[in-house]
Amino acid sequence: MKASNYNCFSFFVTISMLALAASSQLTTNFYSKSCPNLLTIVRKQVMNAVKTETRMAASLIRLHFHDCFVNGCDASLLLDGSDSEKTALPNNNSARGYEVVDAIKSAVEGSCSGVVSCADILAIAARDSVLLSGGPSWKVLLGRRDGLVANQSGANTMLPAPFETVGNITLKFQAVGLNVTDVVSLSGAHTIGLASCGTFGNRLFNFSGTNAPDSTFLDPNMVSSLQNLCPVNGDASRTTPLDWNSTDLFDTHYFQNLINGRGILESDQFLYSSDQGISTTRSLVELYSNNTQLFFNDFANSMIKMGNIQPLTGSAGQIRKNCRVVNS
Ligand code: HEM
Ligand SMILES: *[C@@H]1O[C@H](CO)[C@@H](O)[C@H](O)[C@H]1NC(C)=O
Ligand SMILES: *[C@@H]1O[C@H](CO)[C@@H](O)[C@H](O)[C@H]1NC(C)=O
Ligand SMILES: *[C@@H]1O[C@H](CO)[C@@H](O)[C@H](O)[C@H]1NC(C)=O
Ligand SMILES: *[C@@H]1O[C@H](CO)[C@@H](O)[C@H](O)[C@H]1NC(C)=O
Ligand SMILES: *[C@@H]1O[C@H](CO)[C@@H](O)[C@H](O)[C@H]1NC(C)=O
Ligand SMILES: *[C@@H]1O[C@H](CO)[C@@H](O)[C@H](O)[C@H]1NC(C)=O
Ligand SMILES: *[C@@H]1O[C@H](CO)[C@@H](O)[C@H](O)[C@H]1NC(C)=O
Repeated sequence: MKASNYNCFSFFVTISMLALAASSQLTTNFYSKSCPNLLTIVRKQVMNAVKTETRMAASLIRLHFHDCFVNGCDASLLLDGSDSEKTALPNNNSARGYEVVDAIKSAVEGSCSGVVSCADILAIAARDSVLLSGGPSWKVLLGRRDGLVANQSGANTMLPAPFETVGNITLKFQAVGLNVTDVVSLSGAHTIGLASCGTFGNRLFNFSGTNAPDSTFLDPNMVSSLQNLCPVNGDASRTTPLDWNSTDLFDTHYFQNLINGRGILESDQFLYSSDQGISTTRSLVELYSNNTQLFFNDFANSMIKMGNIQPLTGSAGQIRKNCRVVNS
């Protein structure tokens, strides 16, 4: 993957969501006076990080998601400490990219000190990561402030798990104001990045017990290869791409894969194949699978929606100096 992957599929989505955004007081020009070069600074940092490690684009997108679902988009995920979200089950040894966020933050502080929130940096970095991977772009809304507390139990309960049903996952999206269209479009982020054995190994073998294996829905050509990667009692941290057809490219392969039984996570595959009353998600998977423009447009709109989850604005919260700790 190179930065030259800006391509004909990349386009700008006009903000058709202004009505929704207005209620949360975020604006596209929030820092135009206080930090005019912000977007250029962040873009350069993200480009450097992705050049060093292609996967970082995926990891940065995921940070914004895991931040926004817990206490809103307030950078609570970035706080170190004993009650940190970082060590909650969905994040521990899994969420990554914190050092890159630190580097972006210090570059931003070097140009405009004490002005730009860590929560906004996550939103911009996610947008840039999608674009640099060949996906769509959008005008990112800004003006979030940083929270004062992390919420480990919130991270454990609010974030969706790959072992959950589509119905349960949809309820978790609805709890933060998102709907089933957002579930499917945003799951399309799994067109890039990696997953570790611990998150899908349950599908590979017939364990007696709770989680029935789901190999019915998994391409038989992938099963043996994944069994070799993830043997029973093996190293749960070994990884495989979420999209085997184009690992680093933000495209519609994720959805084509689901139609072909090539989804890695059970929760991915269930959007297309299951007996749980998934006609809506199945139709959306089919629509996105061969309509890049529709997928990109819906994805961008859903990212803007997700970025609007309960932001702190006005004098709420603070602008952290260091994304890892609240100001003393
Ligand atoms: C719909 C419910 C979702 C579930 C159950 C889910 C679950 C997961 C799991 C289990 C992984 C692998 C983590 C690991 O093994 O360390 C993962 C990776 C990832 N997820 Fe999701 N996810 C969901 C939605 C989303 C959304 C909404 C986004 C962003 C918009 C997203 C972006 C990513 C990315 C980019 C990766 C790869 C990260 C990397 O390589 O570092 N996911 N997800
Ligand atoms: C997080 O992972 C580490 C191993 O890296 C482990 O020692 C620790 O117990 C885990 N924390 C939680 C809360 O599961
Ligand atoms: C943590 O998150 C849960 C679930 O959203 C919420 O009910 C609780 O109030 C939050 N706690 C704090 C301290 O923010
Ligand atoms: C779905 O949520 C219900 C209620 O919280 C829970 O009892 C059930 O175990 C969940 N199902 C799955 C597969 O996670
Ligand atoms: C989800 O919300 C978007 C607007 O945010 C809307 O366009 C879409 O139709 C909704 N989807 C469903 C299934 O209600
Ligand atoms: C699990 O068991 C079912 C039924 O016996 C079988 O059809 C399927 O191939 C098995 N899956 C794996 C991965 O061995
Ligand atoms: C994905 O890769 C598999 C295996 O190489 C191939 O059979 C399949 O046609 C590819 N799918 C797409 C949509 O390119
Ligand atoms: C898109 O895919 C769906 C389902 O896979 C199929 O029914 C439809 O005909 C395809 N449309 C085009 C334009 O290829």
